[in-house]
Amino acid sequence: MTTTRRTTKTIRHDASTPYTISITCARGLAPFLQQEVEALGHELRVAHETGVEIRATMRDVMRLNLWLRTAFSVMVLLEEFECRSPDELYANAKKIAWEEMISPDEYVSVITRVDTPTIKNSTFAGLRVKDAIVDRIAKKKGQRPDAGPNRDNVVVNLFWKEERCWLYLNTSGRKLSDRSYRRMPHRAPMQETLAAGVMLATDYHGDGPLINPMCGSGTLAIEAALIALGRAPGLLRANFGFMHDLRFDKDAWEAIRREARKTRRKDTPARIIATDIDPQAIRAAKKNAETAGVHRLIEFRVCDFADTEIPPDGGTIIFNPEYGERLGDVTRLAETYERMGDFLKQKCAGYGGYIFTGNLDLAKKIGLRTSRKIPFFNAKIECRLLKYELYTGTRKKRDDPHASEQV
Ligand SMILES: C[S@@+](CC[C@H](N)C(=O)[O-])C[C@H]1O[C@@H](n2cnc3c(N)ncnc32)[C@H](O)[C@@H]1O
Repeated sequence: MTTTRRTTKTIRHDASTPYTISITCARGLAPFLQQEVEALGHELRVAHETGVEIRATMRDVMRLNLWLRTAFSVMVLLEEFECRSPDELYANAKKIAWEEMISPDEYVSVITRVDTPTIKNSTFAGLRVKDAIVDRIAKKKGQRPDAGPNRDNVVVNLFWKEERCWLYLNTSGRKLSDRSYRRMPHRAPMQETLAAGVMLATDYHGDGPLINPMCGSGTLAIEAALIALGRAPGLLRANFGFMHDLRFDKDAWEAIRREARKTRRKDTPARIIATDIDPQAIRAAKKNAETAGVHRLIEFRVCDFADTEIPPDGGTIIFNPEYGERLGDVTRLAETYERMGDFLKQKCAGYGGYIFTGNLDLAKKIGLRTSRKIPFFNAKIECRLLKYELYTGTRKKRDDPHASEQV
């Protein structure tokens, strides 16, 4: 039988207290998340494939939630302990002073990731943590909070690996990829965090034109507009997990939001053009851009990609074509990929050309030499962001061994 000490762990919470913070992201986005976290002034203590760990205060945590473009969740470590059984999990979880964080009127959701031979069912582990939380609050306050799967209120994460457990307060609540602007997803939309990571990988800052043919529901163009404006993506959201913490400092949060609003540009210095052949896609993209507050900055048009206007003097052009899941699709798409290659070569000289695809066989049909292949994941599909340097005629001539004869 396992014995546990009957102690209460009090969680201090003032502006200068540093906590261990774990920030998670999708596979493939870690390099961009690392850059973002460092740019916000934090030193990385740990960096791995799906996140980073830093030490930071609750003020920092709020800023991270507001500013990070590629993160899923910002989580505060509450407790880490040895654990060999569900009973031990319950006893350890019950030592945490939940009543200092969670009002009995709140609603709690527990998310579990379990990789231990101790139990097979991760739902059961989540239930034990949920029981510990509500039992403790009921004992201290005489009333128990509600609990269930909804992530709109208090969210607690349990990670159980072999004989070690970590319990976190998830200060984001819903994933940060849910920016709340995409009311109309259309077909195969990119997750917002992935679209932001892809735009960061193109080194786009808004100084030159951005062209996004095949824009679908507009995620790449909208994330690009947010980057170009220097606008914090979290300004679009009204609800975060940290707001449901009894120790939430509303004044500090308002000050952080005010500061973010001040640094925002009102306009993009260069054009953003987004087109799609499907009128329904453009309707959805316009609606989403309007919800995100960037519709005036993006020029939308229904047309075949080959009829997209390409402003002179270079910029960035990015395609996210379909990858083709059925054989018939692949045959049809081969021609589209070939046409994309011709279009880039003939119409986009001087541009940095990018194609985001999960089908490298189809990508070969583009027929241009890639200068970079950046790995990403779209859900479970391994993808690449392919970069093509689309030189102007002059550069081509210089590289041509016969060029000197022509000049
Ligand atoms: C994978 S979706 C793009 C998804 C988009 N990145 C998003 O986040 O919503 C591909 C888009 O290409 C469009 N498309 C397919 N063929 C096209 C063509 N010949 N010209 C322009 N758009 C095309 C489709 O209508 C579809 O919206």
